[in-house]
Amino acid sequence: MAKQRVLTGITTTGTPHLGNYVGAIRPAIAASRDDDIDSFFFLADYHALIKCHDPAQVRQSSKEIAATWLALGLDTDKALFYRQSDVPEITELTWVLCCNAAKGLMNRAHAYKAAVQANEDAGEDPDHGVTMGLFSYPVLMAADILMFNAAKIPVGRDQIQHVEMARDIAQRFNHNFADVFTLPEAVVDDNVAVLQGLDGRKMSKSYNNTIPLFLGEKQLRKAINKIKTNLLEPGEPKDADDSTVFQVWSAFATESEIQRMRSEFANGIAWGEAKKQLFELVNGELAEARERYHQLLADPGYIESVLQQGAERARACSAPLMQQVREAVGISAVR
Ligand code: TRP
Repeated sequence: MAKQRVLTGITTTGTPHLGNYVGAIRPAIAASRDDDIDSFFFLADYHALIKCHDPAQVRQSSKEIAATWLALGLDTDKALFYRQSDVPEITELTWVLCCNAAKGLMNRAHAYKAAVQANEDAGEDPDHGVTMGLFSYPVLMAADILMFNAAKIPVGRDQIQHVEMARDIAQRFNHNFADVFTLPEAVVDDNVAVLQGLDGRKMSKSYNNTIPLFLGEKQLRKAINKIKTNLLEPGEPKDADDSTVFQVWSAFATESEIQRMRSEFANGIAWGEAKKQLFELVNGELAEARERYHQLLADPGYIESVLQQGAERARACSAPLMQQVREAVGISAVR
């Protein structure tokens, strides 16, 4: 039986934080060790251009995200790890799909609708600041997915609609031309923790409440000390289920460590002590990877060589599929 293909993209804007690690990177790397699946992970750098017009930031973020996945132990002999922009067939396919995707379907995309709504609320022209990139975002994402005949797409809830659009686009193409594409399906893992940030809301760059994944030890300790708590004194029982400190603890601890901390809370552990233990735990899980991360950042040539090998393997899949697509739509040698 052919292995199941699992594919996901990481937009290269920003620096990975603990929420990305717990919610996406750690489970993805763990899943990629499964011998029954073929994992495809890629840096979605063309997607980054939609949100970010600062070349230095796109470049830096691509490097940091690549180094992060490698430092955390992604086995790139097993999983396919590549950069979207190294696979020119993806952008080629995007155009072909653009010529088949319904504009009306794209009108319904959440990200585009939110931009239009914000403009209307501000009394602006509805298209103010809306680029063709933003509007066509779901088509580029469909090309990412369909290019590799991926079946399962692990994503956050906010991306389900995009995967459904990719499925729609694939169905339409298969119906109109030839049965070329696998129909993809979004997979949302409800068991994966959504980590809380410093202020207790979901950890997210847009809330400015994140803890960067590879902070130095001192800064990590400082950041953990900034997690919001209530004013209960040492000795006063604390509600574990109402505490961000405990929530983050649970994302890193084993089942028995979680139970122990729960009773420490009931017994009135001091906030300072709970945070000290949380720092030890998080730091313990990340220290080695952090060291590798900094070694990798100091050796960009190595990162680049890994990405180039990934691109070569990716293109061994994408080039023949693109050839099929071209044939199907009538782009071929004169004969
Ligand atoms: N749009 C996704 C996000 O912002 C990233 C992404 C790009 C992606 N292409 C993809 C995810 C293909 C899954 C499959 O999170």
